[in-house]
Amino acid sequence: MTPQDQKKRKTAEAAIEYIKDARVIGVGTGSTVNHFIDCLIDFKIDIEGAVSSSEGTTQRLKEAGIPVLDLNDVDEIRVYIDGADEVDPHKQLIKGGGGALTREKIIADACRQFVCIVDESKMVETLGAFPLPIEVIPMSRSYVARQVMSRFGGQPEWRENFITDNGNQIIDIHNLDITDPIALEKAINDIPGVITVGLFAIKPADIILIASDDEIKVM
Ligand code: A5P
Repeated sequence: MTPQDQKKRKTAEAAIEYIKDARVIGVGTGSTVNHFIDCLIDFKIDIEGAVSSSEGTTQRLKEAGIPVLDLNDVDEIRVYIDGADEVDPHKQLIKGGGGALTREKIIADACRQFVCIVDESKMVETLGAFPLPIEVIPMSRSYVARQVMSRFGGQPEWRENFITDNGNQIIDIHNLDITDPIALEKAINDIPGVITVGLFAIKPADIILIASDDEIKVM
């Protein structure tokens, strides 16, 4: 395991403490969450099931013998565990590097508590060095890109040869300086054709577990 992978595993292990009393959990997407799914097996966690944020996570959960539940059949997601691409001091996030941002945002909104697991490399003062993903209806891609560029700046790039689990496309906006994440999240979500922007600012994470070489910091 690389040193960064060891940190991902450590933050994933720390998240186990937060699901102890949960019957139903939400499970995000990405390499850090993959460690968390491994921990569910290693710690023999007994849950009723999990709501999954992507086809990739669904497959891993099923391989681990964990029932995957449809959000429509679930009254409450006690806790949602997911990674992030960037985290600021207000627990606001950029997500969607793996393209699962829409389902991730639905679960983040539906859950009682969102615990975000990251290694220290994800921590930033201001969001925006990581390209901001936007899931769009395919016919709106160029229109949305032009709107974003003219209104907020940045350089949009089409994530070519990538189709989301919802059958849509993604544009990544490079070089944005996101000084007001809540306003930007609202404004981008209002552009016709946008399904979701990967800013999690209106509803940030509740808890961030940050792994460094020698400790887990809880924010
Ligand atoms: C998936 O769409 C993303 O939101 C991931 O949660 C994010 O990219 C973090 O992934 P890693 O844990 O692989 O860094």
